[in-house]
Amino acid sequence: HALRGRAVTFGTNPFLDDPARALVHEPDALILIEDGHITRFGAFDALRDTLPPDTPVTTWHHGIISAGFVDTHVHYPQLPMIAAYGEQLLEWLERYTFPTEARFADPDYAAGVARRFLRELLRAGTTSAAVYCTVHPQSVDAFFTESARLNTRMVAGKVLMDRNAPANLRDTPQGGYDDSLALIERWHQHGRQLYAVTPRFAATSTEEQLDLAGSLLRQREGLFMQTHLSENLAEVEWISHLFPRRASYLDVYAHAGLVGPRSVLGHGVHVDEDIFHTCHAAGCALAHCPTSNLFLGSGAFRLFDALDPRRPVRVGLGTDVGAGTSLSQLQTLNEAYKVAQSTGRRLHPAQAFWLATAGGARALYLDDRIGTIAPGMEADLCVLDPHATPLMAQRAEQCETIEDLLFVLMMLGDDRSVRATYVAGQLVHDRDAPEAAGER
Ligand code: GUN
Ligand code: ZN
Repeated sequence: HALRGRAVTFGTNPFLDDPARALVHEPDALILIEDGHITRFGAFDALRDTLPPDTPVTTWHHGIISAGFVDTHVHYPQLPMIAAYGEQLLEWLERYTFPTEARFADPDYAAGVARRFLRELLRAGTTSAAVYCTVHPQSVDAFFTESARLNTRMVAGKVLMDRNAPANLRDTPQGGYDDSLALIERWHQHGRQLYAVTPRFAATSTEEQLDLAGSLLRQREGLFMQTHLSENLAEVEWISHLFPRRASYLDVYAHAGLVGPRSVLGHGVHVDEDIFHTCHAAGCALAHCPTSNLFLGSGAFRLFDALDPRRPVRVGLGTDVGAGTSLSQLQTLNEAYKVAQSTGRRLHPAQAFWLATAGGARALYLDDRIGTIAPGMEADLCVLDPHATPLMAQRAEQCETIEDLLFVLMMLGDDRSVRATYVAGQLVHDRDAPEAAGER
């Protein structure tokens, strides 16, 4: 089948190239989808005569078709505790996060939250994410079972945590290794599912556990690694006491063999030039989590320093729910724009939408499959509605360029502005006709 409508995607990287040139805007596009992949993309007028006869065409009037959003850092078990009042990172973990995550020992509870979480992601136009589960293997089975049912391309893994956490949330180095390996065999590259070895952060893993996490990564091709890095000043101070022999927080992970391509480090707020340089050289990615960094008072991520064209670090956007306050990448871009302003920099709308799509895919080394609209790519798409509310409609009417319109979407938009979402070519969310998309 085929989709017709206005479309935006990227030809090049708008942090390295002129942003307006990197943005590909096709006012009346045709996207042909076969077997879950995009097979043709271009101007409707140029392609209409090449369509196989009887191809059904869905026209999205007034919509803007984009690649589905990519969330490079999010905790599905924290959905039930989003918007918990009054703490910074370490107290917030103790007071809200650990008690919530303890409930995932119950597989039925985990299955219910996994269903709600993935439903919410699709409502927000997000089709891929790097997801933390809990320390319980059953929380990972619950997540991948639902993701496999929806056929979403997801990266996820069991949290490894053998110290500085309540007893009911701790594993052991060997137990965590064995459970992870069994989950890797069950889920890694099972359909579109991908596994991430997931030590929570250096404070909750012994050196022995970090070393075993490094050895897990070498057991199969294409595994991911995700953890947290230099989010909060009290945390950074604690890590330097826990690992006095390491040169830096990043070095704790590097020493265990955890820093390389497909390693995704959340936050990276309190880092210096040396760390950016090491990340660039190692090919690992940083996840910029602006709503979370503001919510927990962690600090301002230096996006433009990270992306310095002389040694660009791969950067994706993370919602980091439950410390993040929205699963919407539009809302995340809203805050990313303001954080950039606070550091004296301006995030161009083309750069913003690149981060939320192609940039996120590149951070995860998945940019040959997702993140842009082009022949050969998997057909994960969202249809944005700039007229979702009366105010947005009024504001959108005054926009003269696609850049202006994208900026209004990222400042005022949220899940209301996601008209529809497609996963591997299948309609999985239809805002105005949820039954048509089989939503439950
Ligand atoms: N650092 C260690 N664990 C967490 C977590 O769950 N959320 C955030 N934001 N930071 C962390
Ligand atoms: Zn996090």
